[in-house]
Amino acid sequence: MYRKFLIAGNWKMNNGVTDSVSLIEVIRRRMEKVRAVDVLICPPFIALDAAYKVTSGSLLRVGAQNMYHESKGAFTGEISFSMLRDCGVSHVILGHSERRTIFGESDEFINKKVCAALENNLSPILCIGESEGEREQNKTFHVVEAQLKQCLDGISNEQAENLIIAYEPVWAIGTGKTATPEIAQEVHSFIREKLVEIFDKKLANSVRILYGGSMKAANAKALLSQVDIDGGLIGGASLIADEFCSIVEIAENLSL
Ligand code: 13P
Repeated sequence: MYRKFLIAGNWKMNNGVTDSVSLIEVIRRRMEKVRAVDVLICPPFIALDAAYKVTSGSLLRVGAQNMYHESKGAFTGEISFSMLRDCGVSHVILGHSERRTIFGESDEFINKKVCAALENNLSPILCIGESEGEREQNKTFHVVEAQLKQCLDGISNEQAENLIIAYEPVWAIGTGKTATPEIAQEVHSFIREKLVEIFDKKLANSVRILYGGSMKAANAKALLSQVDIDGGLIGGASLIADEFCSIVEIAENLSL
């Protein structure tokens, strides 16, 4: 089954409006000829509107890094799916390990957001992955399966069409320690097996599973060459236009 690569930049808490616009302008110029890869940029909330404007007319898409599952109301400090839709956002990262560990987000809470995103025409990028300690204790598969099943609870085949998964081993995030292509592929193929149990085979085979964790131009080819790695969720390297665009070009070359 053919799955188009998705290369997504998670800028985390970096770049205000001015810096976001400047960086996107550079990326936009260099990505003009890219057709075979979906490219997504996820700046901080305050830059989403400007990012959408500066990408309009191009194939670049804009995503958010989080959202709340209610559409409006007394939820101080939160941003809803309807607000994201209103500023042109197409994707939203949910359940990132930084949200889980620093802000205490549970699988149950993330599940509500994934459901709300799917119901409201936003593609959720659901992040799952084990910590270093869990890997050392051979709990990787157990942890990943539990996160996947709980975060996708109650979602049907029909609803899951726009679902995207990101496998982000916590020990590889921002550490420079990348999972080897073999380790990443082993978990990605396990995730796909579990998706077959949750949904049907056709749907499971169409879901893109991104790898995230110290991905950069130097290791992108080896990772993206694995059969179940359908793209990347890039942190640090997405803040450097040349690195990010090089990863997209590597994916483009692998697709041709
Ligand atoms: P790094 O690429 O900086 O390791 O971050 C990965 C990540 O958390 C993307 O969501």
